[in-house]
Amino acid sequence: MSQVITIHSDVSKGKINRNIYGHFSEHLGRCIYEGIWVGEDSPIPNTEGIRNDVLDALKQLNIPVLRWPGGCFADEYHWKDGVGPRENRKQMVNTHWGGVVENNHFGTHEFLRLCELLGCEPYISGNVGSGTVQEMSEWVEYMTFDGVSPMAAWRQENGREKPWNVKYFGVGNENWGCGGNMRPEYYADLYRRYQTYVRNYGENKIYKIACGPNVDDYRWMETVMREAHPYMDAISLHYYTIPGEFWTGKGPATGFSEQEWFTTMKKALHMDELITRHSAIMDQYDPNKRIGLIVDEWGTWFDVEPGTNPGFLYQQNTIRDALVAGLTLNIFHEHNDRVVMANIAQIVNVLQSVILTEGEKMILTPTYHVFDMYKVHQDAERLATHHSGADYEMNGEKIPQVSVTASRDEAGKIHVSLCNVSHAEQSDVKIQLRGLSGAVKQIVGRQLAADSLDAHNTFESPEVLKPAAFTAFEQEGDVLRAKLAPMSVTVLEITAE
Ligand code: AHR
Repeated sequence: MSQVITIHSDVSKGKINRNIYGHFSEHLGRCIYEGIWVGEDSPIPNTEGIRNDVLDALKQLNIPVLRWPGGCFADEYHWKDGVGPRENRKQMVNTHWGGVVENNHFGTHEFLRLCELLGCEPYISGNVGSGTVQEMSEWVEYMTFDGVSPMAAWRQENGREKPWNVKYFGVGNENWGCGGNMRPEYYADLYRRYQTYVRNYGENKIYKIACGPNVDDYRWMETVMREAHPYMDAISLHYYTIPGEFWTGKGPATGFSEQEWFTTMKKALHMDELITRHSAIMDQYDPNKRIGLIVDEWGTWFDVEPGTNPGFLYQQNTIRDALVAGLTLNIFHEHNDRVVMANIAQIVNVLQSVILTEGEKMILTPTYHVFDMYKVHQDAERLATHHSGADYEMNGEKIPQVSVTASRDEAGKIHVSLCNVSHAEQSDVKIQLRGLSGAVKQIVGRQLAADSLDAHNTFESPEVLKPAAFTAFEQEGDVLRAKLAPMSVTVLEITAE
């Protein structure tokens, strides 16, 4: 099936905020414990308790920002239990996620150290659901105040002389659900109150993020924006791609049908409508787009792997997840005037992870490879594209077969990312490169593709899926003809003279 794409390399559509490539880590299942934190005494090689293999793999992705400690966990987290000598830290029950014991060994110092090691910005989720204003206020003071105060003194006693820079702070998580089952009117008032005490100390300027809606709860967005917009820098949105139904069966991560493949792609594309409609509501109160939309939870959500703890949300990750990642990142790029950050859920061992671990073993998922291939778009100038072509159809429904995004990086290189979502059809793509600064000098490409719907990496065969050089294209002047394999994500790099 053929597609015609024009890349207008002389028409910039603004910067793609690199924070769109953010991640999310929660005290949930084996995300923090085992996935990231193994402790200093572990036989698994580690840096101050953080496992080296995971750290090294994550460094490769140029992660811009990492959200923590939740999720639903955040509104039951009391940060003071997670600082000071580890042997004295309180144990608690993780009620949301499997009822397991949380020993608080990974707390504020450990998380902020992880961010330092990754070279990324921390994004802290504060507790509104079950925490006090004082507790939230003191957390910010503890982390960021460089003066004489009880919290600064306590931080120093706990081994950190100078404060950290903490920019991103979320005032509650899913307060319409696990974060307190609030009405938007009530949350908006609480938001106004709590955020008052999220102070800026010295040079540290906090970027305040309000809890936004679930999926298509436009009333939540309307109410919180109306009542609280002057007090926020951004508002969140949560949307997960679930092929089935949340409560009655989401569908398996592997061993699914062609129809489930199609439905997954269709549901991933729904992100576009959600952002468009939520942005339109935001426009009423914020026409100049001062306030960012942060999709701080997104990704696939399937039934857990058979035999694993249902509260741990552990799922395999296939070429289908790779396509969902590519499609969603393309959508975020298209909305770069409003979407300033996104955080895929979740970084290791939970939902759509980039890394899976099993004891001392670690594998990179197809989603990891998409983030690796796509990192060239971070902070690049998005280029205008025009696109027409055949649809992908199944049982009377259709969606576009190919999704495309393009950007130019600081060095002037153009990157074009293409997702062919068809499970069966190759796509013949004609790309017209217009407005180039000079003749095309070089084109190189990488592609992630598979020959079965649920192709994935395992601990026994960790490299079933990994990107390969892509050479199925011909170039003549400023026209490029490429053959995209079915179920593939391709990134082309174009250098002009
Ligand atoms: O990512 C898993 C959970 O999904 C998060 O804890 C919560 O915020 C959302 O409902």
